[in-house]
Amino acid sequence: MNPRSVRISGWGMYAPERRLTNADLERVVDTSDEWIVSRTGIRERRIAAAHETTATLSAIAGKRAIAVAGLEPDDIDVILVATLTPDYWMPSTGALVKEAVGNTRAAAMDVAAACSGFVYAYSIADAYLRSGSFRHALVIGAETLSRYLDFSDRGTCILFGDGAGAVVLSASDEEGGGMQGLEMTTDPDGAYMIWLPSGGSRSPVTGGTLARGEHYIRMEGRETYRYATKTMATTALKAIERAGWQPTEIDLFIPHQANVRIIESVAKGLGLPMDKMFVNLDRYGNTSAASVPMALAEAVDSGRIKIGDKIVLVAFGAGLTSGGIALEWTADPLWGERAAAVEPVAKVREPLDWSSVDPIPERLRQVLEGGAGPSVPLDDVVPGEPEPAHREVLA
Ligand code: ACO
Repeated sequence: MNPRSVRISGWGMYAPERRLTNADLERVVDTSDEWIVSRTGIRERRIAAAHETTATLSAIAGKRAIAVAGLEPDDIDVILVATLTPDYWMPSTGALVKEAVGNTRAAAMDVAAACSGFVYAYSIADAYLRSGSFRHALVIGAETLSRYLDFSDRGTCILFGDGAGAVVLSASDEEGGGMQGLEMTTDPDGAYMIWLPSGGSRSPVTGGTLARGEHYIRMEGRETYRYATKTMATTALKAIERAGWQPTEIDLFIPHQANVRIIESVAKGLGLPMDKMFVNLDRYGNTSAASVPMALAEAVDSGRIKIGDKIVLVAFGAGLTSGGIALEWTADPLWGERAAAVEPVAKVREPLDWSSVDPIPERLRQVLEGGAGPSVPLDDVVPGEPEPAHREVLA
């Protein structure tokens, strides 16, 4: 039977303990705290420890969301993990997270839509629940971006951080609440604006791709910025329109935490003051798919959201993708206190007869240990250009 509504019943987040400050980054790339704060608003970001992965971060945030919902792990019917930094290409991170949260019966999978991933995953879970297929979904956004960053590229390494956020969506027999308006876009014109060149079927990893650092994130910052400022406001507006609301009725926006200047331009575009925008990027940087659910969890737990509030989640990211959800909040914010009972530890199943290398990139390790050599920028990569070794094979 179809439920009357689908609502957020639990929320939670986890940020690794280790902080990487702008002053730390001043030691590795030609940058300054003043430049990073004034151009982005970011002061520090979190870095996953060697024993942590996207699955362990996800599991802690997920267990917290389940506890906040007042559910048992086995009450969850489906688990979606939005990430661009999975533990492996296969199995899915979701499969590992299912076991790590203590669930024995859910279907689990990953969703790939970069920084819009959590909004996309939320919309998928909402559709399952509305159709009556499932009653409870765990939706997670989680990243270990520090493993995919070139710490000699000042255009990217200052922006990103690690973390995880989660919600439980539950089918309800009460009317109203939950998602009222949805907007999603995908624009491949910007496919190579934020790009991880190597490791996929188009460019499998070789000695050459590694030497050129093609396993690290590349980004056209200025163009991405232009796209983001345009699309975030229009995406939010469409979601609000579909809910039948006006922008001035919205109590709080939870925007993707990429750059405070982008968030300011969204506020300006919608004609709203900045106090309607929740901002925590100063402490976490851009955590991609984790950014919206981490911000949502912090917003509820810090008393910024109350029952009956109209909330808008809005994100943009690689693809280029964008997603906006206008929702009515129905959960008691005090349930958030239940998360305190969940220890920040997670046990993810290890592979048999295989031991991974140290997952922390060498240059990041040097930064964390307090020193690093001079920065040597990697060669630029032209989209679609095969490396010489591949060219010979193709000829
Ligand atoms: N420190 C000091 N100087 C820098 C740094 C740095 N870390 N990075 C760039 N600069 C320099 C540039 O080289 C340039 O110098 P020049 O004028 O001599 O050439 C100057 O600063 C200005 O560079 P811009 O790129 O124009 O700087 P801008 O104000 O646009 O800020 C930034 C750059 C922060 C990257 C901004 O463009 C941005 O936030 N873009 C959006 C990025 C983003 O949100 N990406 C995430 C997408 S989500 C996902 O799916 C992963």
